[in-house]
Amino acid sequence: MRMRKKPWVDSLLQNPPSFVLGDVLSLSGKTHAHYDIVHLEIGSGKGDYWIQMSQIYPKDLWIGIEKEMNVAAVAIKKASEAIKDNQLFLIGDAQNYLEQFSDHDIDIIHLNFSDPWPKKRTHKRRLSASTFIDQYKRILSEEGQIIMKTDNKDLFEYSMVQFSQSGFVLEEMSVDFRREQQEDAISEYEARFMSLNQPIYRCIWRKKHRG
Ligand SMILES: C[S@@+](CC[C@H](N)C(=O)[O-])C[C@H]1O[C@@H](n2cnc3c(N)ncnc32)[C@H](O)[C@@H]1O
Repeated sequence: MRMRKKPWVDSLLQNPPSFVLGDVLSLSGKTHAHYDIVHLEIGSGKGDYWIQMSQIYPKDLWIGIEKEMNVAAVAIKKASEAIKDNQLFLIGDAQNYLEQFSDHDIDIIHLNFSDPWPKKRTHKRRLSASTFIDQYKRILSEEGQIIMKTDNKDLFEYSMVQFSQSGFVLEEMSVDFRREQQEDAISEYEARFMSLNQPIYRCIWRKKHRG
């Protein structure tokens, strides 16, 4: 998602609110010691999902990562208007941050409407490419999960194969995901696809069978 730069972005990011972290190392002591479940959303866009979920689940910690600075700034501005102490945000490419997390730091990784990178030579940039999955596996807790939603059938099929080949166990799959309760927030892209009545694919993978 690329966006034209807004005039307030520089001043916001020069002096960001305290929930915007410079690196993952500054997280230490803020995760499982204080929160029930630690979530990581990669590619948070303008932050609707990350913000709403942190409000629905106040006992959990919600960490968002977004690489596009101008898009991240919108998420940060929105969150600043109703700041919760269970929100943390990282600006930059997830690839650089994932290696900073310790083993088992995260319980649930959320991939919402990730960029599809349709050309074969760009598949390695997909957030479900094996290099990313190897890191997810390392940072996820023993019974950690990955929850992915997308409108893109090709990305969905590719991801299903990747997660399966990496040893994850499929827990749920839907090719027309509809919420029965408000347990899951709606992201900006999801709202758009819902308004167009397009099917939403969702899968939940667990690192290993529950004990
Ligand atoms: C299609 S948008 C979806 C945004 C939001 N998740 C939603 O559902 O509305 C994908 C977002 O992921 C971000 N993104 C893609 N690859 C990323 C990476 N490696 N690290 C961090 N953010 C990434 C993009 O900049 C973009 O904002």
